[in-house]
Amino acid sequence: MRSIKNILVTGGAGYIGSHTYVELKEAGYTPIILDNFSNASRGVIDRLNTLFQDKPMVIEGDIRDTSLVEKTLVEHQCDAVIHFAGFKAVGESMAKPLKYFEVNVGGSERLLSAMKNVGLRKIIFSSSATVYGDPQELPIPEAHPLTSASVYGQTKLMVEEMLRAVYAADREWSICILRYFNPVGAHLSGLIGEDPTGVPNNLMPFISQTAIGRREKLSVFGNDYDTPDGTGVRDYIHVVDLAKGHVAALDLMATPHCTPINLGTGNGISVIEMINAFEAASGKKVPYEIVDRRPGDIAACYADATRARELMDWNAERSIHDMCIDTWRWQSQNPDGYN
Ligand code: NAD
Ligand code: UFG
Repeated sequence: MRSIKNILVTGGAGYIGSHTYVELKEAGYTPIILDNFSNASRGVIDRLNTLFQDKPMVIEGDIRDTSLVEKTLVEHQCDAVIHFAGFKAVGESMAKPLKYFEVNVGGSERLLSAMKNVGLRKIIFSSSATVYGDPQELPIPEAHPLTSASVYGQTKLMVEEMLRAVYAADREWSICILRYFNPVGAHLSGLIGEDPTGVPNNLMPFISQTAIGRREKLSVFGNDYDTPDGTGVRDYIHVVDLAKGHVAALDLMATPHCTPINLGTGNGISVIEMINAFEAASGKKVPYEIVDRRPGDIAACYADATRARELMDWNAERSIHDMCIDTWRWQSQNPDGYN
C-alpha cells in the first residue's frame, strides 16, 4: 500500500491549520493548503514561506466547490485530508445559524462527497470539547454523552454524526475525530500565531492584547463558579502540541476505523491562574475587573487525555508558561497581527 505523504489541509491558512502545516512539513509530509481566506490573512503564507524558504502549495478556494476539491485531490495525489475549514465563533453562530450550517455542515458533506468520488477515504476532522456540553464528569472521557448548547456546537456534533454514518456504511474509511480543548500559544519563531479579527472572544488573545495596550482591561466573566478560585477552569493546550497531535493521528490512517480522540493536557487552569502566568511570562500587567458571568459559559472543562496517549503515543508537552511566553513573543513581534 502507498504510504501517506501528500495531505490536503482545508483551512490550512487559519490559526491551527498554519501551525499544523509547519509540523507536517517538519515530519516530512507534503501539505497542500485549501483555504478561501474568509478568516485568514494572506500574510500567513508569506510567513510560512519565510520559515521554510519554500513556497507553500496553496489552492485558494472553497471546500463547497466539489469539482475543485476533486481536481486538487487527484492532481496532488492526496493520501489523506485534515479538515479544519469552517467557522468557529459561538456568538455569531447563534445570530447567523444558516451561515454555520452551510459552511460547517454543508461544506463537510461536500468535502466528504468529493473524497468519496475520487476514492480517498482517510480524514482527520477538527471537533471540539464543546460537544460535551456542561460536563457530567471531570476529566472528560470520549465516552461522555454528547450534546450542544450552541449552533456552533450543533454543527460539530452533526459532522461527527455524518462521519459515523459514513463509516457505518463503508468500513473502508479511516476517520479520526479530534476533539480539541482550548488551543492557545504560537509557534516558537513568533512568525505565526492567532490573529482574531475585531475584539477577541477568547481569553488568551484578549489577555495578550491587554498586555500590549490594545485593550484597556480584561473582563473576567464571573468569580462565583464552583471552582477553586471561583473563575472558569479550562484545559488550555499549546497549539504546537495540538498540531503535533494531527501528525500523530496520521499514523492511525493505515487501518479503517472511526475514533473520537480528545486533544487536551488533562489539566484545568482558572482565568486568574492564566492572568498570573501571563504577567509572569511577559513582565507586563494585565489589568482586569470581575464582571457578570458570560451567558452559556460552564464552570470547568478538562480532558481525560488517556486515549490519545494509548492510541497515538501523543502527550501535550508544553506548559502554561510556554503557552504564555510564546503568545507574548507573537503578540509583541506582531502588535497588529499579520497587518
Ligand atoms: P480559523 O478561523 O483560524 O481557521 C479556519 C480556516 O478555514 C480559515 O483560514 C478560513 O479562512 C478557512 N475557511 C473557512 N471557511 C472555508 C471554506 N468554506 N472553504 C475553505 N476555507 C474556509 O480557526 P482555527 O482556530 O484554526 O480552527 C480550525 C478548526 O478547529 C475549526 O474547524 C474550528 O471549529 C476547530 N476548533 C477550533 C478551536 C479553537 O479554539 N480555535 C477549538 C475547537 C475546535
Ligand atoms: N473569559 C473571560 N474573559 C474573556 C474571555 C474569556 O473571563 O474576555 C473566560 C471564560 O469565561 C472562560 C475562560 O475564560 O471561563 C475561557 O474562555 P474562552 O472563550 O477562551 O474559551 P471557552 O472555553 O469558553 O470556549 C472555547 C472555544 C469555543 C468552544 C469551547 C469548547 O472558544 O469555540 O471552547 O470547546 F466551543
